[in-house]
Amino acid sequence: MFSSRTNWSLTPNRLSELLRQRRAGGLPILDLTESNPTRCGFALDAEEMLAPLHDSHSLTYQPDPRGLLVAREAVAQYYFERGVQLQPDQIFLTTSTSEAYSFVFRLLANPGDKILTPQPSYPLFDFLCALNDVEVLPYPLVYDGAWRMDLEALTSRWDSLTRAVLVVHPNNPTGSYVGKRELGGMIELCHRNQGALIADEVFADYGFGVDAERVVTHAENSEALTFTLSGLSKISALPQMKLGWIVVSGPAELRRQAQARLEVIADTYLSVSAPVALATPQWLAQRHSIQSQVLQQVKANLQTLDELLAAGLPVSRLNVEGGWYTILRVPSTRSDEEWALDLLTHEGVSVHPGHFYDFPSEGYLVVSLLPAREVFHKAIGKVISRICAQS
Ligand SMILES: Cc1ncc(COP(=O)(O)O)c(C=O)c1O
Repeated sequence: MFSSRTNWSLTPNRLSELLRQRRAGGLPILDLTESNPTRCGFALDAEEMLAPLHDSHSLTYQPDPRGLLVAREAVAQYYFERGVQLQPDQIFLTTSTSEAYSFVFRLLANPGDKILTPQPSYPLFDFLCALNDVEVLPYPLVYDGAWRMDLEALTSRWDSLTRAVLVVHPNNPTGSYVGKRELGGMIELCHRNQGALIADEVFADYGFGVDAERVVTHAENSEALTFTLSGLSKISALPQMKLGWIVVSGPAELRRQAQARLEVIADTYLSVSAPVALATPQWLAQRHSIQSQVLQQVKANLQTLDELLAAGLPVSRLNVEGGWYTILRVPSTRSDEEWALDLLTHEGVSVHPGHFYDFPSEGYLVVSLLPAREVFHKAIGKVISRICAQS
């Protein structure tokens, strides 16, 4: 009766089952997987955030497939402040970055076509691709003190069914940005294979330092057809408001054709609500205040972690350039999942095993840097002590 694309195994894994049992039993959980900024104690002025929803223009329905112009102009302003001049017609509003992915996959790929995606990376790609009948074709990110794209592997994996290469900038969970040399390599591959570039920049504003070798934003790329995805969920720490976007850039004729087709896809759904679109200029403008709070918290938590880690311990962390997560290197004497189960059972701390993000081997745990500082301090202390005691 149901489509094969929904044939998921719906049995909870051991970790979710253990979490469920702990919650049901009223046992405390120190959550180092928290990625919801609305639960991490950031100060928002409720009145200031909700006031833009009271706009009488919301009472009129003025459908625009790309989304209301005022909101697209605000998005263009966001890029202008990052040094890129965009026309509002290059911008398509969506209800989330996830929806943006669906639109782009629908635009580029036929059933069975492939999208090259980084490994390790964001677990939702498997679902987003499967729901759009496209295949995930992983390409490796390698770590040698810093994360890099393996351009050779990327080149060799690109086959006749591959439609696009996807990058996350900076990547979740590795926190690594795309470098200018890597972008050059991808552009060359796109030219050679008539492919497109998809860049997810939801965490782009959360860099820990500046690096001239980093790509600023893929939205300025005019050399290959490029779709830059982002949204308010991370940029303004407002995932509940449901506003994402796609910026189309690249050679003029390709861009024109892509925009015309995307317009029909977007027109089919007209998904962004008027109140949200009308409030977007203000929500984007207030990002500076929330971003500095988030960055301070993330950096403070990283520093706490570094103060607790010492040379010679069986646990260390990998280099991270930005984003909301960090990766712990732990002994492979047991699987990542067993470490995560052990930490939850004995210390009440929830962490993600590396295999959630498709790390190619055991020995990695992923930790969110977003939690309130007291929570993070207590939880990470327990993680380190337990790993040391068990190693
Ligand atoms: C890399 C990445 N892209 C996209 C998203 C989701 O964004 P949205 O809430 O706009 O769908 C996330 C959420 O964690 C993410 O980590």
